[in-house]
Amino acid sequence: MSNILEELETVLSSDAQVYTPEGSESKAVVHQWVHAIAHDLPLFAEVKGVNKSAIIKTLKDNQLFKDKTSFHHKLTAHLPIVPPNKARFTFIDLFAGIGGMRIGAQNNGGVCVFSSEFEKNAQQTYLDNHGELPFGDITEIAVTDIPSHDVLFAGFPCQPFSQVMVSM
Ligand SMILES: C[S@@+](CC[C@H](N)C(=O)[O-])C[C@H]1O[C@@H](n2cnc3c(N)ncnc32)[C@H](O)[C@@H]1O
Repeated sequence: MSNILEELETVLSSDAQVYTPEGSESKAVVHQWVHAIAHDLPLFAEVKGVNKSAIIKTLKDNQLFKDKTSFHHKLTAHLPIVPPNKARFTFIDLFAGIGGMRIGAQNNGGVCVFSSEFEKNAQQTYLDNHGELPFGDITEIAVTDIPSHDVLFAGFPCQPFSQVMVSM
């Protein structure tokens, strides 16, 4: 993980904790906030009073934010899969796995505004690939906290359709 994400987590984690759903980590909230700020898009839990200007002020006070363009560059330049600077459309990435569908969406100008995946190893790979930790169990997340978006991607779980029973 990049140092910049660690610095952002240090500064924003206590605010993020307040809005962290059961089954998710506060890092997921921090990462959503900072990527949304870099793209000037809505923040997770804005309906509950999360204030974008106040968060940007905190970042400025800690010398972590100068302007949107340089902030986007700092957040994404080191990533193996770099998201677009400007959104042709926005999307959310549910049952996200390691973020495979996200690549196709980004290649077509999509910017992700929220992701969810509850398997820890998949979450870590998603973080390595995309620079953000997905939220955890989607059933614990209030719909109204999820930022507005143009497209919902969901690589939904296949267990209900499987013909195979495995006993361990
Ligand atoms: C078919 S895989 C998705 C693959 C993904 N689209 C990709 O491109 O890598 C379905 C995923 O849903 C996740 N999942 C299942 N139930 C979930 C839940 N309640 N909340 C979050 N993720 C869940 C599983 O851990 C699994 O990784």
